[in-house]
Amino acid sequence: MPRRVFVVAAGSSRFGERWEAGQAELAKEAWQDAGFRGKIDSLFVSSMASGAFTEQEHLGPLVLSAIGSGSVPSVRLEAACASGGAAVRQAFLSVRSGEHDVVAVVGLEKMTDVPPDEASRILSQASLAEDEARTGATFPALYALMARRHMHEFGTTEEQLAAVSAKNHSNACLNDKAHFRRTVSVDDVMRSPPVSDPLKVLDCSPVSDGAAAIIIAEEGVARGLSENPAEILACEQASGPLGLCARTTICGIPAAASAAKLALEKSGAKLSGIDLAEVHDCFTIAEIMALEDVGFFPRGGAAKATERGETALSGSVPVNPSGGLKAKGHPVGATGVSQFAECFLQLSGRAGKRQVKGARTALTHNVGGSGATAVIGILSGEVGRK
Ligand code: COA
Repeated sequence: MPRRVFVVAAGSSRFGERWEAGQAELAKEAWQDAGFRGKIDSLFVSSMASGAFTEQEHLGPLVLSAIGSGSVPSVRLEAACASGGAAVRQAFLSVRSGEHDVVAVVGLEKMTDVPPDEASRILSQASLAEDEARTGATFPALYALMARRHMHEFGTTEEQLAAVSAKNHSNACLNDKAHFRRTVSVDDVMRSPPVSDPLKVLDCSPVSDGAAAIIIAEEGVARGLSENPAEILACEQASGPLGLCARTTICGIPAAASAAKLALEKSGAKLSGIDLAEVHDCFTIAEIMALEDVGFFPRGGAAKATERGETALSGSVPVNPSGGLKAKGHPVGATGVSQFAECFLQLSGRAGKRQVKGARTALTHNVGGSGATAVIGILSGEVGRK
């Protein structure tokens, strides 16, 4: 009989340009923020490209020492920008199966020690090398293709994409861990320099340093460790072709749609009952596609809904209350873990000024590369289960 799995603590380092901190320091900062003092049975570390960014591989023991957790098994896991979600899933499975009672996941990436064009080159290794990266197609370029197609099929406008950025920057102003804590207007986004048409600088997530940590435990142990644990009802993963050229559609991410369908089935949750979502807005178009892939809005409906304010903190489905990748920042290996950390804060009523009132059920959506890997989590707060 699979066991029930709960998040008992979560924390985050400050995201941003953290030139003064190494990977071990960032991990320690996130761990201390989580405030967990118990013993763990195992550690999963997520990072997309620590070797390329910092010349440091073998992060399991590095992070284990930094958080002072003895000699338990530790391993690093890579699934591009979905590394964090994939590591949470492995931790979830190990607790659910009965192998371990308490498992930590620390996600991190230190990206700003290399020049910007080198960061872009390293990131593009998560796309299809032969047909995409080596032709010069960076991630902004790949997502720009998706944006153009979405505009062609559904009439999505650049202003509607800009509204995603304005909303997420506004939310990040309420998050003291965020990379950017400044508002931007739709006009600011429209006037920002082009990166890959139609995407502009303010349509893109930044290159960030940062770490996030969560600690999960089986039901009996969890209740002794936290007064307000949040249950992980489901954590599902799906895959698709690495290259955009092999996809059946580029107006959405089929792997995300499949993982969301599975997660909803396994959790028993209904979309209408989801109180908030942390989704993978690496580019503004990615948030629009995420909302349509998960099913919050019909195809072609999410951009208009965003423009109407339905995804704002006070809207019917608050999306990215943390500020999302766009404004909280996107240290790629940390992102998926950070999404779970935000949901835990929200479900335990500890999200401060960005608290979604009455949040009981939350969804995470984490995507790797241009969508070849997707992980969807569904969490439920204590109040919600009663
Ligand atoms: N959003 C908002 N502001 C940004 C920003 C972003 N994405 N990127 C940079 N800035 C700001 C910087 O803070 C800096 O502000 P300052 O002058 O007040 O200090 C200014 O813009 C210039 O920064 P710089 O580092 O020179 O920007 P850049 O032109 O080198 O990089 C991007 C801009 C958009 C190209 C870069 O952020 C990027 O590549 N993003 C995408 C990352 C990515 O692909 N991730 C993986 C997704 S799958």
